Amino acid sequence: MNERADSTAESRFVVTSNRGFAAYAQDELRALTQGTKFDELIPAETYLMRIPLGRDEAIRTIAGKEPIFLRHMHPIDATVSLARTIDDIRLICAAAEKLHETANCDKIAIQIRKAEGFTSAFEPSELREAIAELWLEKFRAETVVKDAERIISVFLTSDCAYIGISAPGDNLSDWPGGAVRFRKEEGQVSRAKFKLLEAEYAFGLDFSKVAKALDIGSAPGGWTSLLLDRGAEVTAVDPAELHPDLLRHPKLTYLKRNAGEVAFRSDTYDLLVCDMSWSPKQMVKLILPLLDSLRPGGIAIITLKLMHGKPFQTVKDSVRAMQPTMQLRKAKQLFHNRDELTVYLQKIN
Ligand SMILES: C[S@@+](CC[C@H](N)C(=O)[O-])C[C@H]1O[C@@H](n2cnc3c(N)ncnc32)[C@H](O)[C@@H]1O
Repeated sequence: MNERADSTAESRFVVTSNRGFAAYAQDELRALTQGTKFDELIPAETYLMRIPLGRDEAIRTIAGKEPIFLRHMHPIDATVSLARTIDDIRLICAAAEKLHETANCDKIAIQIRKAEGFTSAFEPSELREAIAELWLEKFRAETVVKDAERIISVFLTSDCAYIGISAPGDNLSDWPGGAVRFRKEEGQVSRAKFKLLEAEYAFGLDFSKVAKALDIGSAPGGWTSLLLDRGAEVTAVDPAELHPDLLRHPKLTYLKRNAGEVAFRSDTYDLLVCDMSWSPKQMVKLILPLLDSLRPGGIAIITLKLMHGKPFQTVKDSVRAMQPTMQLRKAKQLFHNRDELTVYLQKIN
């Protein structure tokens, strides 16, 4: 859908995608608002976007139809030219201070990112400390990492600082640049666990409400272990071995089989997850008969491998194959997705 652009308005944002996927995000953003333009800040990942809409209208338009490949954005409310001296810190703080009325709150986060090859007379950490001190002393606002009311974002190139102040929701992610960093736990079965953890957060889900879950393509068991941790009863299906630490879990049923060889009673599961690294066509073929085991209103979280560089067609074809039983709630390339994206579907009541 093309928004009709107000010919006088223009706003600027720093926009970020997973490395190598920015061109897709740009296609999505241009399809939302004709005339949107991009200048590179970090190759194939971070761009300065000029959009022919006012700042708030641009945020509403983008949030209303969130692009699959746009991981993070923040507005540019002020730009400071840098002289590459220590005085740059004072200039950036002065520009940020002028924006204070949009960050009049008790808790702020300060997120500083830099372009590759950024050189300066100061470290980004020194700038963060200076802004934190300013907000504490002048405005009595505490600097936090999570659950901030406003985020002060600064993107540094060697010549310029782009500064924006926004509500966390306006940035699509409250992590700097949308780079979600979970702490690896001792004994964690696989890094794949982070993908499902991020999906739970990004899609606003709460897996502790899931009573019964089906995990297709579950080995070595990162996703299964997360669902067991959340208290669900889990049926894990994979011809490969699950991690031995999981096998003793009283709420686990492990079927060491191919997805094409299993069948379940109708309306049994609240959640179906699938992380098979297969072509989406093959994966959908295997998943289709299993969707009957999902109860009405039940949820499916599925990773879709991106084949032959046609991501939008892949999503369209895969979702169409699962309709009308399943409705697409959201498709998103998560930070923990590599050459894939994640879809969140819900079974029609
Ligand atoms: C990327 S791994 C899954 C990782 C898992 N989500 C985790 O958190 O540890 C993909 C798994 O899909 C399984 N797989 C591939 N084809 C399958 C099939 N037809 N039926 C069941 N599992 C399959 C593979 O054996 C492999 O263990």
